[in-house]
Amino acid sequence: MWDYTDKVMEHFHNPRNQGKITEKQEGEEIVTGQVGSIACGDALKLHLKIDEETQTIKDATFQTFGCASAIASSSALTELLKGRKVDEAMKLTNKEIAESLGGLPEEKMHCSVMGQEALEAAIYTYKGIPLDDHEEDEGNL
Ligand code: FES
Ligand code: FES
Repeated sequence: MWDYTDKVMEHFHNPRNQGKITEKQEGEEIVTGQVGSIACGDALKLHLKIDEETQTIKDATFQTFGCASAIASSSALTELLKGRKVDEAMKLTNKEIAESLGGLPEEKMHCSVMGQEALEAAIYTYKGIPLDDHEEDEGNL
């Protein structure tokens, strides 16, 4: 058994903001960033609702096929993102995600990297920047 912090376990048992974002108002945009592949077992979709005028993330949700750390990291990530400006959100590192959970076991740090990469993919999509240095994964979550 991995040595998880109470916070990791808490987020794993009560994940925040799971699912899709289906509703938006005028002036808001919904974008999705995806990493991993369902076929391989680890996959993460991050959905963001962005207010175009203020460039602020109004809502963030996730859908994950992954281990406990991936679920907890995604849950923590959505909480960290709400209310952030897009440009600030872009600077968020997987270390910060792990720190917000009181740390992750070293072997499990890559699970928080998925969240960070999905975030990058979502913001790149929002900004219309091509993701050419990312592999295109075809998972259907
Ligand atoms: Fe091994 Fe996908 S199952 S890389
Ligand atoms: Fe693959 Fe955590 S997401 S081990």
